[in-house]
Amino acid sequence: MTRLVVAGAGAIGRRHLAHIDAHPDLHVAALIDPNPATSELTQAPRFDSLADCGEDADGIVIATPTQDHEATFAEAARRGWHALIEKPLAPDLASVDRMIAAAEAAGVHILTGHHRRFHPKVTALKAILDAGTIGQPVVATSIWNVRKPDGYFDVGWRKGRDGAPVHMNVSHEVDLLRFLFGEITRVAGLGGNPVRQEARVESGAAVLGFASGLTASVTFADTTPSPWGFEHGTGENPNIAHTGQDSLRISGTRGAVEFPSLRVWTGAYDWSEAPVPQEHPSGDGTPLILQLEHFARVIAGAEGPLNDARSGRATIAATLDIERATWPEGVPA
Ligand SMILES: NC(=O)c1ccc[n+]([C@@H]2O[C@H](COP(=O)([O-])OP(=O)(O)OC[C@H]3O[C@@H](n4cnc5c(N)ncnc54)[C@H](O)[C@@H]3O)[C@@H](O)[C@H]2O)c1
Repeated sequence: MTRLVVAGAGAIGRRHLAHIDAHPDLHVAALIDPNPATSELTQAPRFDSLADCGEDADGIVIATPTQDHEATFAEAARRGWHALIEKPLAPDLASVDRMIAAAEAAGVHILTGHHRRFHPKVTALKAILDAGTIGQPVVATSIWNVRKPDGYFDVGWRKGRDGAPVHMNVSHEVDLLRFLFGEITRVAGLGGNPVRQEARVESGAAVLGFASGLTASVTFADTTPSPWGFEHGTGENPNIAHTGQDSLRISGTRGAVEFPSLRVWTGAYDWSEAPVPQEHPSGDGTPLILQLEHFARVIAGAEGPLNDARSGRATIAATLDIERATWPEGVPA
C-alpha cells in the first residue's frame, strides 16, 4: 500500500483524491486544503496546511494553485516525501530550479503531472511514430480550441496570466509534442484577447521548431466551443464533452497520422497517389490513474520518473517562450 497525501482538492486535486481513494494499492494518508468543505470528499483526515499535518506518508500529490507548489513541495521534501506535482511545476524557472535543488538535497523525486503522457492513445501514437510507420516526422498541426465556462474565471488566481490557456493548457500541448518529438529549439507566435478582453491572452497560435528539424503549429483558444482539442477528442476529462474528433495531425516522409483516431495514412510516394487510411488500436486505462500507479512504482524504486522536474522545466521554458511571443505586454521583463 502506497500512502499518499493530497494537497489541494480543487478541480484537479479532487480527481486525484477520488482515484487514490478507489485504488486497492493506494491510500489517502491525509488531505491538505484550507477549505473545510473539502472534508466531505474523503474519509482521510484534513488539515488546513501541510505544516499542521502529523500523518506519515510515502509521497504527496501537490494540486494546489501553481504559485503555492514551491512552498508545499519544500515542506514535503523536508519530510522525505516524493512528489507528483501538477503542471506547471511553478510559475517561473527560478522557482523550478530551487525545487530541483531541494529535491536533490532531500533525495526525493519530483514527477511533473502532465498526465497526457500516460494516455493509452498517446502510448499507441508514440509507438506508431517510433516504429517509423510514417517515416521521418516533418510537420505537426495541433488544435486546442474550446470555450471555458465563464465561472471558471471567478477564481482569483485564474483572472491573470496564470489562468490563460498558455499556462493552463498549451503547456500540455508543449509537453505532449516534446514527448513525441524531443526538444524544442525555436518558438514564434501571435495572440490576443478579442472576446473576453481581460488582461491575459485567450487565443492565438504558436510555431515550434524542434532539434529534429520538425516544425509544429499549435492553435489555441478558450473562447470557442469547437469540437477540436485533446480532451474533446479523447473524452479524457469528465468535465469536457467528448466529441471524438481529431485535434493533432502529423505528417512524415512516408505517411501521416491523425490523433486520437490513430488513423494512419500510408502507401503514397508523392502527390500523384492517394494514401490509404488504416485505424490502429490502443489499450485502455485512465491517464490520471496510470500516472498514480507510475508514481507508486517510482516511490518503490521500481522505475524512474517518465517526466521528471528537468523535463517539466523544459516544458515551462518553452511555454514561457510561447507566452512572450503571444502576449508580450503581460510578461515581466
Ligand atoms: N493536469 C491537468 O490537467 C490540470 C488541470 C487543472 C489544473 N491543473 C493544475 O493543478 C493546479 C491546481 O489547479 P486547480 O484548477 O485544481 O485549482 P483550484 O483553484 O480549483 O483548486 C486549488 C485547491 O487548492 C486549495 N489550496 C490553496 N492553497 C493551498 C495550500 N497552501 N495547501 C493546500 N491546499 C491549498 C484550494 O482551497 C483549492 O481547493 C494548478 O497548478 C493547475 O495548473 C492541472
